[in-house]
Amino acid sequence: MLEFGAALASVLAKGDVLALTGDLGAGKTTLARGIIQGLCGDIEVPSPTYTIVQNYDAPKFELWHCDLYRLEKPDDIFELGLFEAMEECVCLIEWPDRMGEHLIRTALTIDIQFQGDGRDVTLSGSDSWIERLAHV
Ligand SMILES: Nc1ncnc2c1ncn2[C@@H]1O[C@H](COP(=O)(O)OP(=O)(O)OP(=O)(O)O)[C@@H](O)[C@H]1O
Ligand SMILES: [Mg+2]
Repeated sequence: MLEFGAALASVLAKGDVLALTGDLGAGKTTLARGIIQGLCGDIEVPSPTYTIVQNYDAPKFELWHCDLYRLEKPDDIFELGLFEAMEECVCLIEWPDRMGEHLIRTALTIDIQFQGDGRDVTLSGSDSWIERLAHV
């Protein structure tokens, strides 16, 4: 999961949003950790369960790691600044369903499902994502 994250990190650009879905404990934070460490080096990446958002300065853009599990209502993303961040930064969003219709429609969805001791990962998004991911 960490290696996959590091590989994904290499294709990310400002304005990209990754919606990380899957049950509790599926591995969303672990994948985000791989992406963040791929971009920022071997730094500590805590789960933003309580803070909801953690920001990182990646070399080419600001990186947001969000866990919306505890978001009370979709409109709370405006107060967090997440609506602007989806266009101006790179956002990795766990529990994106909590933001309802506000999730930007260009997002790449990465769904993680338990599969024995491992995980099945399914990516879905626009054609342009398919093209870019071909290089991962
Ligand atoms: N591919 C994998 N194979 C086996 N274990 C994994 C895999 N990916 C993650 N894990 C383990 O699963 C546990 C939960 O991972 P993680 O915290 O990333 O899940 P999460 O989806 O973010 O959970 P939450 O819904 O609570 O935010 C961790 O112990 C992690 O090491
Ligand atoms: Mg998590």
